[in-house]
Amino acid sequence: MTTHDASLDPWTGPADPEILRRRAERVLRTARDRTHALTGCVDDHDLTAQHSPLMSPLVWDLAHIGNQEEQWLLRAVAGQQALRPEIDKVYDAFEHPRAERPSLPLLPPAEARRYVAEVRGRVLDVLDRSPLHGTPLVDAGFAFGMIAQHEQQHDETMLITHQLRRGPAVLTAPAPPGPPAGAGLLPAEVLVPAGPFTMGTSTEPWALDNERPAHRRDTPAYFIDTVPVSNGAYLRFIEDGGYRDRRWWTAAGWDLVREHDLRAPLFWRPDGRQWLRRRFGVVEPVPEEEPVLHVSWYEADAYARWAGRRLPTEAEWEKAARYDPSSGRSLRYPWGDAEPGPAHANLGQRHLRPAPVGSYPEGASPLGVRQLIGDVWEWTGDDFLPYPGFAAFPYREYSEVFFGSDHKVLRGGSFAVDPVVCRGTFRNWDLPVRRQIFAGFRTARDAGPEVAR
Ligand code: AVJ
Ligand code: FE
Repeated sequence: MTTHDASLDPWTGPADPEILRRRAERVLRTARDRTHALTGCVDDHDLTAQHSPLMSPLVWDLAHIGNQEEQWLLRAVAGQQALRPEIDKVYDAFEHPRAERPSLPLLPPAEARRYVAEVRGRVLDVLDRSPLHGTPLVDAGFAFGMIAQHEQQHDETMLITHQLRRGPAVLTAPAPPGPPAGAGLLPAEVLVPAGPFTMGTSTEPWALDNERPAHRRDTPAYFIDTVPVSNGAYLRFIEDGGYRDRRWWTAAGWDLVREHDLRAPLFWRPDGRQWLRRRFGVVEPVPEEEPVLHVSWYEADAYARWAGRRLPTEAEWEKAARYDPSSGRSLRYPWGDAEPGPAHANLGQRHLRPAPVGSYPEGASPLGVRQLIGDVWEWTGDDFLPYPGFAAFPYREYSEVFFGSDHKVLRGGSFAVDPVVCRGTFRNWDLPVRRQIFAGFRTARDAGPEVAR
């Protein structure tokens, strides 16, 4: 364990194994309920079909979820024999790119369901008997939390597949709450003062390897948008000819625009004088007050340049989300150390869309920045790199093999992210060309010399 100053990076959660056990059971059950909902609303043909070459068939995700759970909780933690050793390779994400998964010898839907249920039954017995301490893998229930997070990450992936799927809507959810009165009067940006803060964590028990260890980072003063960039703001970029003006784009971004003739976010189409968007099988006018979704990193970067701004660095994003100037420490979430509740953030697929910008005043950071957690993943300007002192745990293929300049970091989580896989320290990454993920962004700028340091 890396040494750390606990007063700067506190976690006061339960060490009592009974509480940990109940928490592990609860997050595993929540994930499985969601997996069942996402795979139970379509027929077997739909489960095995390729809805997009960018995605796996839903039934691949389903059995892959069970296979990872078997490998880590039954084999690694409990030392059990493989239930079906012949399927490991089929469900190894590194063996087969997504586009070729439909042609693999996949377990048919009924068999995949039996397999994941059999694994889960055994896992609950293992959990019942585990002391939940004694090895790094089970300390504080880490492996169980990791597997619940893995399942929830694939649930978000399956929700992306649903969004790409053609045909009538099969998923429904209530609209998110409207913004509170006065949300339109929020200042456009917030000043974050210069100085060091604690980035990452060494104490959050279920934090994944790339979030560790906690370390000090310094930033100059900067301004960051109070809320994510809205569809309305993004429309002004489109109407100003943003997609036709080479000036705003990096070389690779301009190549992407021309190769695919990009003119708007994915799932948008023009209809006379307005724009429509398709959202889980429903076509509707683009709502101007909602955070923009389904833009690549290149589009986010170009918008920011057009606006005379830039994407925040990853450190700037985390400082805006966690730094509490009154105590000098970094919080677990923008609102404090309490677990996310429905008043804090739009998480957990309770709604099938982001909430209007300015929503969730109770989720604001100490400096007043809103909607950092939930609603839309936010592109940052940075490549996905390890923190100083990084150690791969428990496997290199979670994070380490993705470090480098190919992937950009996304922060904060979308409406499709469950609270168990969302923290102020959580890091996501993807290729800068990706548009189907639930990603938007906010912008930042240097504070410049007019701000005293
Ligand atoms: C962290 C979301 C980029 O989905 O590719 C799932 C998570 N890792 N199974 C992904 C993951 C292994 C990963 N992301
Ligand atoms: Fe996976």
